[in-house]
Amino acid sequence: MVTGAANGIGRAIVDRFLADGYSVAGVDLAEDDLGAMATELDADRFHPVVADISNRAEVSAAVHVAVERFGRLDVLAANAAIADADPFLEIEDRSWLRIIDVNVNGAFYCIQEAARAMTRTGGGAIVVTSSTNSWFVESNLAHYNASKGAVIALMRSAALDLAGFNIRVNAVEPSMVKTRAAFITKDPDGAADYLKRVPLGRFAEPAEVAAAVAFLASEQAAYITGQTLVLDGGLTLGIELPLPQSALPGSARAEGLDGA
Ligand SMILES: NC(=O)c1ccc[n+]([C@@H]2O[C@H](COP(=O)([O-])OP(=O)(O)OC[C@H]3O[C@@H](n4cnc5c(N)ncnc54)[C@H](O)[C@@H]3O)[C@@H](O)[C@H]2O)c1
Repeated sequence: MVTGAANGIGRAIVDRFLADGYSVAGVDLAEDDLGAMATELDADRFHPVVADISNRAEVSAAVHVAVERFGRLDVLAANAAIADADPFLEIEDRSWLRIIDVNVNGAFYCIQEAARAMTRTGGGAIVVTSSTNSWFVESNLAHYNASKGAVIALMRSAALDLAGFNIRVNAVEPSMVKTRAAFITKDPDGAADYLKRVPLGRFAEPAEVAAAVAFLASEQAAYITGQTLVLDGGLTLGIELPLPQSALPGSARAEGLDGA
């Protein structure tokens, strides 16, 4: 089961899981996008489910439908989320609450309902899409940043509490991925400016995030739980400094030990 399946990273995860041989229930509240996607995919292995992950009853029903349709639930990619951008002092409660409702409450409902189904068939794997924003925050996104930090604590808690049920829970943390939600990727000036800080010099492709999700969901990651895999092209590694004009104090070069 993949949430946020109809666009961006979620769509790429669906494509990757289908290529890897899974049958996939794709959950999204965007009915038209999901319907269009379903017409492209093999109806024997892809089942669209219209649901709002911030609604417990709809999440519960979505898990039920997935299990009914395919017999069991082995993997959840808890990927759906929303963002908003406001200066900190102007964030309104409705914006804050909507983000927490979808990104945190929604992830909780999905993980809990999926895990309940997994316990009935011997276990499974859950991969949450968080973000480097969980700790390497971006301006004007306090609500989004906080929600992504919360899902990391939620993921670690679920990993600890569900290990005894043979359910692994991990997260991916992309930085900027080329989707409709990453507005900066479509702004030529903003994109060029942003990419100066990315050592690999480009944005991530949705399929690259999907590959990390597929790895964490797979048996190759059978001993990995409670971890986050960062996909940021090196963005959060550190700050690039120019070479100094002269030898640094105490260095071999300064002491003439390098033969120079
Ligand atoms: N794009 C990036 O740069 C980036 C970076 C880091 C993390 N992420 C995370 O990746 C995930 C996917 O983001 P994306 O860029 O693909 O976004 P997107 O907007 O392209 O796709 C998100 C999908 O989630 C669906 N969705 C939204 N709210 C929902 C709800 N309440 N119930 C069900 N479905 C809902 C939307 O309809 C949409 O199809 C999110 O968790 C996002 O925070 C994205």
